[in-house]
Amino acid sequence: MVMSRSRIYPLFTEEQLRVRIKELGEQLTKDYAGHNPVVIGLLNGVFPFFADLTRAMDLDMDITFMRVSSYGGGTDSTGEVKIIHDLDKSIRGRHALIVEDIVDTGLTLHKVRKLLLDREPLSLKIVSLLDKPSRRRVEVPVDYIGYSIEDHFVVGFGLDLDGKYRNLPYVGIYNPA
Ligand code: IMP
Ligand code: MG
Repeated sequence: MVMSRSRIYPLFTEEQLRVRIKELGEQLTKDYAGHNPVVIGLLNGVFPFFADLTRAMDLDMDITFMRVSSYGGGTDSTGEVKIIHDLDKSIRGRHALIVEDIVDTGLTLHKVRKLLLDREPLSLKIVSLLDKPSRRRVEVPVDYIGYSIEDHFVVGFGLDLDGKYRNLPYVGIYNPA
């Protein structure tokens, strides 16, 4: 497959992302005030969003990561979700917040959510920078959403195509045509 940045059309600029993530952080600061949550980042795609969001949350929190993989390659989900790296902290009796880059079919979060609920957190919520509701195959409650988008394959700001483009500072639509 030939990859080129000329196939990427900006969807959300650095400035738009900065403003929106700050708003989400302020909302979460209010909602979790006094709760000392465990904030769980789903690697790899979440890294820029996670860094910006947690720094916009004026709260005491524990930070931990989980690495899951749901794509064999290309732009379509295989439907298979693998836990590659589990949490290094207990969430039992804690308020847990999952941070994700994008919810597409919902299969990843459906599986992660079930796994984490079995560990008996006091609460479990989800925040995702992006949401593609038209692609959903299983229902999953996403409590906080940065932007809801149409059915486009997007890259940048952590999101990749076969491992590429994660370092772009904006989110763009990848047009393979
Ligand atoms: P789901 O399990 O189908 O909801 O997919 C979730 C994961 O698929 C995300 O965490 C991303 O890693 C990946 N993904 C879904 N849509 C896109 C996209 O448009 N661009 C890049 N990665 C995506
Ligand atoms: Mg991801």
